[in-house]
Amino acid sequence: MKKQNARIKSCILVCAHGKKGKKGTCAGSGSSKLAKLLKNEVDKRSLKKVVKVRKTDCLGQCSKGPNVVIFPGGSFYSHVTRTSACTIVDELVALLDKDS
Ligand code: FES
Repeated sequence: MKKQNARIKSCILVCAHGKKGKKGTCAGSGSSKLAKLLKNEVDKRSLKKVVKVRKTDCLGQCSKGPNVVIFPGGSFYSHVTRTSACTIVDELVALLDKDS
């Protein structure tokens, strides 16, 4: 095993569980579009190398979707909209600035 230091400082996990159009799941609540929006927002702020946006399986709060968790910190966001996606990235940037 070889241990290396990663440049990744943060991860945004977007629940992608369920099927499009199926109510009561994050996928049914538009999580795919939300993940793309978050990726675009991260790219726009030139954070691509340090913040990764990844789809994940069910986070256990299906009826509150789309759901997002950010690391570090593990803050959980539910009923995320296009507008609140930008707020999540803002909060993440503030968190990263605080830690550096
Ligand atoms: S489907 Fe997203 S939390 Fe369960």
